[in-house]
Amino acid sequence: MDKELYVRKNWLSAAPELNDREAEEAFAVCVETVKRNMAYFGRSFPAAASVDGIYPKTANDDWTDGFWTGELWLSYEETKDPAFKREALASVADFERRMKERVVVDHHDMGFLFSPSCVAAWRLLKGEEAEEAAVSQARRTALAAADNLMGRFQEKGGFFQAWGTVGDPKEYRLIIDCLLNMPLLFWASEVTGNPVYREKAKRHIRTAMACVVREDYSTYHTYYFDPETGAPVKGITQQGNRNGSIWARGQAWGIYGTTLSYGYFHDPEYERLFDGVTACFMEHLPSDLIPYWDFDFHDGSGEPRDSSAAAIAACGLLEMARCADQEKAELLTSMAAKLMKALTDRCLLREGAPGAGILLHGTYAKRSEENGVHESGVDECNLWGDYFYMEALMRMRKDWERYW
Ligand code: GLY
Repeated sequence: MDKELYVRKNWLSAAPELNDREAEEAFAVCVETVKRNMAYFGRSFPAAASVDGIYPKTANDDWTDGFWTGELWLSYEETKDPAFKREALASVADFERRMKERVVVDHHDMGFLFSPSCVAAWRLLKGEEAEEAAVSQARRTALAAADNLMGRFQEKGGFFQAWGTVGDPKEYRLIIDCLLNMPLLFWASEVTGNPVYREKAKRHIRTAMACVVREDYSTYHTYYFDPETGAPVKGITQQGNRNGSIWARGQAWGIYGTTLSYGYFHDPEYERLFDGVTACFMEHLPSDLIPYWDFDFHDGSGEPRDSSAAAIAACGLLEMARCADQEKAELLTSMAAKLMKALTDRCLLREGAPGAGILLHGTYAKRSEENGVHESGVDECNLWGDYFYMEALMRMRKDWERYW
């Protein structure tokens, strides 16, 4: 552990930690919300982000739908209520339809979609005789998604192309978020015995680590390559404030992504990167620990927050704590508990209306002069914020087998 990196930061100070009782209570609130929303959404899916506090009802056609199924699985794991299992399995069946009909699957987010839905089903139900057909459906659907992702691998550059038509020079890039899509490929190698998924994932991770992390451990959101030579070209943002700024959620994907990569390879270089991106994230937090959507902004800026970035970061810290020596594990667990306390006190929606989310104050995409994105979900709930907040609470309470 790079002790120096951690010890000089002010986040070891007085911020309170979420205690066991508070974590139990918060998780119970989440499960109640999922239950209420299960009735509200029926067989539709919540949209990526709420609008005026309520998620619109949508079909299974965005990169975020797996998080809803993941919330159902987390609730099922906790309660063993068969209603959660029934709805989660209905989602898994819908994911098989989606994959077969190729509904919005021409992009790299196969892990976000199929790990918390289908891989989770496989992990939770395998071995249950009564669920054999469902487990086999989940397995073949997740493998079809892994094969789909493999079709986006670019030999020149050695990475998975995030968006657009495969090979399009205007889209010849990877994005930091894709580190969370790699576990699907490790899982595919594990269940098929075919090493090719893992090998491609390994190459993507190596490429991403070499280009998205800047010298000061801040991160680029996306990175372009030359389609002719595969040489790295430049980092630019898609959802951050500026090309050179630190998009809070991208930095959080970096924390969780470097953790997972370290877990696969135990490469000390990935631990060094984890330490760096984590320290950078914590160092840029405002005084109440709820990140602004981009770290260009600080206390008093009046800019919106992105609570989901803190929830993702907490999951990454808690995952790394499992691989670390005792001293570092204690430090990481304490940091995660501080983030979770802040989220619980300031962002947890305790009694929402049907269709409302779990974690307030997320930002999906805020438009700026440099990014030109379509603005949506600003100061709203979003599905991944709800999911990762629940995952982090689950991790704080149990020795949890991850869906990733
Ligand atoms: N992975 C897309 C996002 O974080 O908005």
